[in-house]
Amino acid sequence: MSKKIILSGMRPTGKLHLGHWVGALSNWVNLQKQYKCFFMVADWHALMSEYKNPSVITDSIIDNVSDWLAYGINPDESVIFVQSQVQEHLELFMILSFLTPLGWLFRCPTFKEQINQLKDKEINTYSFLGYPVLQASDITLYKAHFVPVGEDQLPHLELCREIVRRFHHLYNKEVFIEPQALLTQVPRLSGLDGRKMSKSYNNYIALDDDDKSIKNKISNMVTDPQRIKKEDNGHPDVCNVYSYYNVFAKEKAFEVRDWCTGAKKGCVECKKIFTDLLIDFIAPHREKKREFLKKKDYIYDILSDGTNKARAVASKTVAEARKAMGI
Ligand code: TRP
Ligand code: SF4
Repeated sequence: MSKKIILSGMRPTGKLHLGHWVGALSNWVNLQKQYKCFFMVADWHALMSEYKNPSVITDSIIDNVSDWLAYGINPDESVIFVQSQVQEHLELFMILSFLTPLGWLFRCPTFKEQINQLKDKEINTYSFLGYPVLQASDITLYKAHFVPVGEDQLPHLELCREIVRRFHHLYNKEVFIEPQALLTQVPRLSGLDGRKMSKSYNNYIALDDDDKSIKNKISNMVTDPQRIKKEDNGHPDVCNVYSYYNVFAKEKAFEVRDWCTGAKKGCVECKKIFTDLLIDFIAPHREKKREFLKKKDYIYDILSDGTNKARAVASKTVAEARKAMGI
C-alpha cells in the first residue's frame, strides 16, 4: 500500500525558535517515515502580511530550511520546497477563488483576529483575505490526506474541505482529496516571559542561539514569584522554568518538583541544570546548521530538487482541475 500524503508549511518570517520545534518541526521529523511528506516554505503566505519588508522573508528562507535539515528533516525522504517556486500554487489559488464566497473568508476567525492584532501591518488587503484559499491550494495540489497543524489552523482546514466539496459538486468530478487535520498534541511552550512565544514579543530561544544567549535568556526567566529565598518552598506549577522541563526533560520533571517543593535546590541552580540540558540539545543541531550554511549550494540543490518533485505532482493536479472545468 502506498503511503498517505502529508503537506505542511511554515511561513519564513524570521528565526525559528523552540516554539516551532515543539509545535511543528519535531512532529514533521517523526512523520517522515510513515508518510510521503511535502514540507513547504510558505513565502507567499508570509508576504501577505510582511509585504512591506520582503527582504526579511527572502533572507529567512535559507536560514529556516537549514534549521529543518539540521533538526532532522531528511531530503531523501521528504520533498522540501519553496511555495513561490512552484507556479501551480497561484494557478489553483485562482481557480479555488472563483468558488469561495466572500462570506466564508470574512467569517474566518483567524482573519478577524489578525486584522485586530496586527494593526501596524496594514493587512486589510485583498490578498490577506484570501489567505485560507491559497492554503487550500497548497494542500489540494498534492492531494494531501493529512495536514499536521496546530489548533489555530483548524478553521483554515475546514475552509479547505468546504472548498473541495464545492468544487466537486460544481464540476461533478472528484479531483481533490478532502484533507484531515493531524492535530499535534503538543504541550504548550510559553515564551520566556510567559506570553505566547513569538518573534514580535522577542521572548524566544532560537533554534540556533549560542550558549551565552541561552544562558542569559534562561537566567532572566521569572520563576515562582512567591519563592524569594532558597528556603521558601516553591510551586512548580506556576513556574515557567518547570514547564520547560516538562517539555524538554519530562523524565526529570518529578525530580525537579521534589527539589522545588521541598526547597532542596534554589532557582538559580534549577535554571543552571536546565540550561545545560537545553544546550546539550541545541548545540549539535546548531553546529550542523553552521555546516549546512557553509555549503549553500547543497541547500539550493535540495530546494531545486524539491521544486521539481513538487511541480511534477502539482502540474498534474492543475491539469485535472482544468479538465474538470473544461478550460
Ligand atoms: N498558515 C500556516 C501557518 O501560519 C502556514 C501554511 C501555509 C500551511 N500553507 C500551509 C500549513 C498548508 C499547512 C498547510 O502556520
Ligand atoms: Fe521554578 Fe525550579 Fe525555582 Fe522551582 S526551583 S520555582 S521549578 S526555577
